[in-house]
Amino acid sequence: MVYKMKTIFNIKITYAILIASLIFWAFFAFFTMNQLIKTQEVYAKLINISGKQRMLSQKTALMVKRVNESKDKLLFKHLKEIISLMKRDHHFLLENLTSDEINKIYYGKKYNLNGDVEKYFSLLDNFLFDSGNVKLVESILSFSFDLLPKLDFAVNKYEKESEMYTYALKQRELFILIGTLLTILFEAVLIVIPSVKRIIKTEKRLKELNQNLEKKVDEQKKLILEEHEKVKKREKTLSDQSKLISMGEMIGNIAHQWRQPLSVITTIVSGINLKLDYGQKVFEKELREASKQILQQADYLSKTIDDFRDFIKSEKNYSEIKITEVIKKTLSLVDASLKSNHIKIETKIDEDILILGNINELSQALINIIKNSKDALVLLDEKKSERVIFIETKKLNSKEFLLSILDTAGGIQEEIIDRIFEPYFTTKHPTVGTGIGLSMCDKIIRERHKGVIFVENREFEYNNKTYKGAYFKIIFNY
Ligand SMILES: Nc1ncnc2c1ncn2[C@@H]1O[C@H](COP(=O)(O)OP(=O)(O)OP(=O)(O)O)[C@@H](O)[C@H]1O
Ligand SMILES: [Mg+2]
Repeated sequence: MVYKMKTIFNIKITYAILIASLIFWAFFAFFTMNQLIKTQEVYAKLINISGKQRMLSQKTALMVKRVNESKDKLLFKHLKEIISLMKRDHHFLLENLTSDEINKIYYGKKYNLNGDVEKYFSLLDNFLFDSGNVKLVESILSFSFDLLPKLDFAVNKYEKESEMYTYALKQRELFILIGTLLTILFEAVLIVIPSVKRIIKTEKRLKELNQNLEKKVDEQKKLILEEHEKVKKREKTLSDQSKLISMGEMIGNIAHQWRQPLSVITTIVSGINLKLDYGQKVFEKELREASKQILQQADYLSKTIDDFRDFIKSEKNYSEIKITEVIKKTLSLVDASLKSNHIKIETKIDEDILILGNINELSQALINIIKNSKDALVLLDEKKSERVIFIETKKLNSKEFLLSILDTAGGIQEEIIDRIFEPYFTTKHPTVGTGIGLSMCDKIIRERHKGVIFVENREFEYNNKTYKGAYFKIIFNY
């Protein structure tokens, strides 16, 4: 990591340096070009003017001769103009002495071009005052003749200097070109190649990481699926256990429910047998009545078997069911067992609703709640308190419907009331309770019927006596 930071840092610095040097080369090239153009401009002007000076020196000498001979006023005027032009140009040349050598040509002892030119100008000035002076004309001609090689020399010097400067600047251009190319080469070697290498390496690492990640996700998925399977299995065991408990309760119920009709049948048949034993006549009417009653009881027995069979059918289908139907069915299944334990059921079914649900599952949930009340109620001293279970329904509002179950058993201990819906939570002896009943009930109501179930202890008056009991509230949406 530290190494990487270092390389990134280095690359950044190198990159900055290279960019700075590219900018430097660009500016350098710009200034060199500018200088080249300016130098060429200056030298072109100087070469031009010094050449012109050379040409004018000859021209003035010839014109002096012609003016002297012809006395032509126009020519004289023209000569005057040319002389002043020459003076102006000479002044310009003196102001722009480009090098020591040129300086020496103009002011040095050896050439003293300036002195000669000044002298030539004074001769010309004299001529302008005395144009008839033949001697003066001759000395102008001879002086111009002497001046020519010196002026030539100056022109040549300017040309050479110009060439030299141009050459030097061209060399500099080459230098700039090489410098720029080297900078670009450095950029390629120090930045582009390492960056490309790093990108390739990073891509490879990313690919590997991706593959690892996919592998991990797959493993995670597998784990989740396994966990899901386990949870499903656990839930199935829970539901099976709960069903078994309810079936145990049901068998108990059947035993209670059958006891009565079986004793009726036994009584009828024993009555007839007794008559026959004592040689009494059994009339047809009597037999018909007996068989009618036996059939009725048998019907009842068969119906309880149907109920039981319906209940144990593990149908998971939903259909539109009435809450009152659920209550009716539940009571028909637990009625006998409750009665045999002297437990009274008080129902207050005000309103009814239709919900989408499974009647067996809901009955199972209610049986679990009622069984708990029964377990608690049987512990009560019958002489002191009544054993009652109240079942009530009512619409809470336009969306919610309440089904409540309350008992007179004294309520649930406050320390455990928050835990009673947990699976396997029980306060009962292992032979009596497993702690599955309410957790199943909660599951059936919440998950399968989109309802909610709450519990609280409630104190209330019943037959002029105060009771406390567990109050279960189931709220369905409709
Ligand atoms: N009506 C009630 N009165 C008093 N205590 C109750 C009542 N209903 C439930 N409980 C308490 O809640 C606990 C959990 O109830 P749950 O039905 O889940 O399990 P269980 O009845 O103990 O066992 P199982 O239902 O599996 O036979 C009970 O052990 C009991 O202590
Ligand atoms: Mg229970």
